[in-house]
Amino acid sequence: MEEDSPLKTRVSRRQVLIAGTVSAAATTLPMIATLANEATASAETKPPVMSKVGFEVNGKRHSLELDTRTTLLDALREHLRLTGTKKGCDHGQCGACTVIVDGRRINSCLTLAVMHEGARITTIEGLGIPGLLHPMQAAFVKHDGYQCGYCTPGQICSAVAMIDEVKAGIPSHVTENLQAKPRLTAAEVRERMSGNICRCGAYSNIVEAIGEAAGGLS
Ligand code: FES
Ligand code: FES
Repeated sequence: MEEDSPLKTRVSRRQVLIAGTVSAAATTLPMIATLANEATASAETKPPVMSKVGFEVNGKRHSLELDTRTTLLDALREHLRLTGTKKGCDHGQCGACTVIVDGRRINSCLTLAVMHEGARITTIEGLGIPGLLHPMQAAFVKHDGYQCGYCTPGQICSAVAMIDEVKAGIPSHVTENLQAKPRLTAAEVRERMSGNICRCGAYSNIVEAIGEAAGGLS
């Protein structure tokens, strides 16, 4: 009987592998398609799960009944019509949606509204109004801390809460002495504000504005 040459064996193994892959794909792809169709059908037929949630926004109490998948950002913009808070990436990458919840700044696109029962939320509309600006808003105007303005509500909310973080002694990645209270240097401001992206590149003016609102940088 004729023995297989090494080449013949290699070819035959490759053929087996190719045949196996084709066969697996032939079995798996229809399965994936079926699952996707079932998921779509189920999403189409199942009603959303609704839940009541109550929180305070800019000093005013609100009660909403929301699809439990509604983000805090969409609740503010679409349900309460507070469109000062902006949707940039909707993925936690730009900071345009920053609001202050119970004193802490958060990306409102990354959290569900129903998780904030009883919370106290401050948006840009709650910081100041035309003619009675918050010192941070006034400093942004004075120092031209914006160009198109799209990132600005998030920058300002973030900056206001960031200064409170420094006052509370919370260190950042660039704080040199962890035993002492952090000082508000330009490097600290840049680091602490690094989650707020400005596509117009108004960063140097933003740092100046924050410095002024904070009473000066160290
Ligand atoms: Fe929330 Fe960009 S919209 S981080
Ligand atoms: Fe335009 Fe910041 S001012 S993105």
